Amino acid sequence: MQIGLLPLEQLSGAVMPTTKRREPVSSSSANLALHPLRGPAPGTERRTPRSRSRGVATTPSYDTTDIRSFFDQCASTGSPEQHGHPQRLLEYRLRLVRSLARPRPTDVVLDLGCGNGHHLLAIAPEVARGIGIDISPGMIDLARARLQSSPCITNLAFEVDDAKALKGIADQSIDLAICIGAFEHMFEKRAVLASIYRVLKFGGRFCCLTPDADYVWYRTLAPRWGFATKHLSSDRLVTRDHFSALLDQTGFRRIRAAPWTFIPKGDVPALIGLLLTVLEAIGRHARLDSLRGGLSLCAWKEAGSA
Ligand SMILES: C[S@@+](CC[C@H](N)C(=O)[O-])C[C@H]1O[C@@H](n2cnc3c(N)ncnc32)[C@H](O)[C@@H]1O
Repeated sequence: MQIGLLPLEQLSGAVMPTTKRREPVSSSSANLALHPLRGPAPGTERRTPRSRSRGVATTPSYDTTDIRSFFDQCASTGSPEQHGHPQRLLEYRLRLVRSLARPRPTDVVLDLGCGNGHHLLAIAPEVARGIGIDISPGMIDLARARLQSSPCITNLAFEVDDAKALKGIADQSIDLAICIGAFEHMFEKRAVLASIYRVLKFGGRFCCLTPDADYVWYRTLAPRWGFATKHLSSDRLVTRDHFSALLDQTGFRRIRAAPWTFIPKGDVPALIGLLLTVLEAIGRHARLDSLRGGLSLCAWKEAGSA
């Protein structure tokens, strides 16, 4: 499942809820979060109805509890792929991970925001062990159910955990951390990256696939045409430069970034989906990353860095 959203820099164009307002979970990621807004006294706030503007319905979200309950709700529908042919998209994303991070048979892999576990289940035969974590118990239930129906896969575990804490993961125990279509939904991105850095072994790498904040749909077309693009009001996209800087500041080295094809077809009318498909094809041939939709990054934790 991939969910589209507005870039960080376009908060002014985002559909914002008006009644339920709380302080962000932490101010440590102030440059990635909304400025705190004063709200009603505790207990008096009410949840606003979902946005009725064009585009996706934006659910008000202020903290981890809101994110968890949103994705629990998604899990209750089985969390189907929204943006195209599920198997083709799954294989495409796995090809990207393989070419960026080169999973090895000895690797212990951590999938952050694993959702229903489909990426980890597909990559399991290529690695030694895999752990999928997700903040949503509903998603973890889905992943465990899939695991149970794949009896030949015995090297995986799925646990409820917050990527920013990774309480269940020991320091320097992971060779490869992957995060696919989830980083954009995570609060406190600096804390998430610090946790990933902590659990990676030296020589380990982090591979992330996320929508690109510079995507022409998010940055220009959707705001101009009045389309809401965020599923959760707390969603935040990052640009290539911003993500690279965050990784560098965390201590990651050998940071590589590249575009990938991400067209949020499930979030837009069919005609716009067609337009975005044509633009993406042009972007691929003309090497215009802002037409591609996706941003992929791979970064290493090197001995002696940070
Ligand atoms: C759009 S889904 C993607 C799931 C999966 N990676 C995929 O591609 O199908 C995003 C997932 O990130 C999870 N998530 C969001 N914030 C998280 C956090 N702080 N820690 C762990 N998981 C988180 C959500 O619960 C959700 O399952």
